[in-house]
Amino acid sequence: MIRVAIIGTTGYTAIESIKILLNHPQATITYLTSRAQHCHISEIFPALRDRLDLEVEALDIDKLATVADVALCCLPHKASMEFVPKMLDAGVKVVDFSADYRIHDVDLYEKTYKVEHTDPDNIANAAYGLPELFREQIKGANLVANPGCYPTAATLGLAPLLENKLIACDDIIVNAVSGTSGVGRKAALNWHFPEMNENYFGYGVGVHRHMPEMQQVLTEKCGHNVRLLFQPHVVSIDRGIAETIYCQPIEKVSDAKLIELYQKYYKDEPFVRICDKPPAMKDVANTNYCDIFPVNAKGRVIVFSAIDNLVKGAAGQAVQNMNIIFNLEETMGF
Ligand SMILES: NC(=O)c1ccc[n+]([C@@H]2O[C@H](COP(=O)([O-])OP(=O)(O)OC[C@H]3O[C@@H](n4cnc5c(N)ncnc54)[C@H](OP(=O)(O)O)[C@@H]3O)[C@@H](O)[C@H]2O)c1
Repeated sequence: MIRVAIIGTTGYTAIESIKILLNHPQATITYLTSRAQHCHISEIFPALRDRLDLEVEALDIDKLATVADVALCCLPHKASMEFVPKMLDAGVKVVDFSADYRIHDVDLYEKTYKVEHTDPDNIANAAYGLPELFREQIKGANLVANPGCYPTAATLGLAPLLENKLIACDDIIVNAVSGTSGVGRKAALNWHFPEMNENYFGYGVGVHRHMPEMQQVLTEKCGHNVRLLFQPHVVSIDRGIAETIYCQPIEKVSDAKLIELYQKYYKDEPFVRICDKPPAMKDVANTNYCDIFPVNAKGRVIVFSAIDNLVKGAAGQAVQNMNIIFNLEETMGF
């Protein structure tokens, strides 16, 4: 049994991780930590009543080292890099949900996130946790940087085209929409019910923090300098991400060949499904699937990509990574 700790238990990705782990035949949750809410887990999440009998405690690194093999670190950026090195030094493997170990260039990280990186040495030790593209690096890693939710959908959608040099690598638009759980559980005026309900709006125009992450990953994977425009929107639903990605083809490929290319690229991947029409958010809600549909339209190639931001975009991908680290069946828990 793999012993798992959840750090930052009161957040959305934490509860999602707990729900998946409760179904996992080879993992057991042994430690739940929070900065301030120290009580039985069912007081924080009544949905866990009679399902998980654990108290939530303040993080104690010595205790963590004795009760856990791996920590799912569900903290925001900046907070993560304060605790991750201590957990690693204590011999605990970490899957980190934040952006702190995703961007390899420290200057770019600091410019993008507007904070000083206090643990730059561990960036080089972190595997980027997108199993479909970086499985070999994840195997046996002590630290996995779980990808961002938008980059997961975009990267899986674009990799087959870019790797096969079928589209221009500097003429890509990723247009995305997300449910409101993407911003986390903390309160803010924009997400207040009367502001957000039945609403839809764009944000982060030209500057969203996930844009450099997408560019870095696709550039590394595909060997040419990928430059793209990423435009996110938020809509008044709880969960889900749908992306419509517009690409400029270099070579004309028929619709049938596009589907064939994607099916071949992801043929051994348990969590990627190639569709014959644009996927709906509800098709992937509460699952670890990424559904993708590539198609030609008016001289462009359009790729539709959908995930659940809290599952394939966060907690599900983290458990998938944990399974890979510990050499377990990748689909365990789902
Ligand atoms: N939501 C998504 O769809 C999504 C997708 C991909 C990645 N992520 C990433 O996953 C991480 C968690 O996201 P989330 O949506 O679960 O956020 P969240 O709901 O806001 O929860 C984060 C938790 O971290 C703890 N925390 C907050 N600030 C902290 C600080 N300064 N120091 C220590 N602990 C702090 C809090 O728990 P305590 O007060 O109980 O300690 C909080 O409940 C973030 O890095 C986020 O970017 C989120």
